[in-house]
Amino acid sequence: MDPAYTLYCSTALFPPCSQEHNLLLAACNKHNSQNQITGFLHREHSVFLQYLEGPAGSIQETMGRIGRDRRHKDLQILASGYLEKRYLPDWQMGFVDGSQLSLHSLLEVNKGELNLKSQDPFDLVVFLAANADNLRRHLEPRFA
Ligand SMILES: Cc1cc2nc3c(=O)[nH]c(=O)nc-3n(C[C@H](O)[C@H](O)[C@H](O)COP(=O)(O)O)c2cc1C
Repeated sequence: MDPAYTLYCSTALFPPCSQEHNLLLAACNKHNSQNQITGFLHREHSVFLQYLEGPAGSIQETMGRIGRDRRHKDLQILASGYLEKRYLPDWQMGFVDGSQLSLHSLLEVNKGELNLKSQDPFDLVVFLAANADNLRRHLEPRFA
């Protein structure tokens, strides 16, 4: 069966550099590898934008857990469906810390609210895939 995908955004209810954050990462790493889920979770200030792809049942189950998680609110599904092939080889999370592209600069919003619902979901997935790629290169050992 073709892999399924979901793209959503939500509002974080805990600070970026916190114990909560480490717990979240640990849960994601554990579950996503077990459930064959690949994708990218982007955090920019209080905005989460996450793209997940994998077996349809795993995506549904994971989205159920994510939807019940009280560490964020206002979850909005921006796109979902099936894919012919996966776009991301692994699961990662990135922050806007200078090495990452930012949604604010992509959408040319200086301050204030990002309106992700009005964006083309494909552009947002390309944005996430570019950040995932960036991060992967950053983490890869470099040989002189
Ligand atoms: C913004 C956000 C993104 C999350 N992404 C994932 C995810 O990709 N995979 C996952 O299994 N859980 C994810 N979670 C965590 C789940 O909501 C849930 O807390 C976790 O899977 C529970 O794991 P545990 O029972 O092992 O503690 C996310 C939570 C939040 C708030």
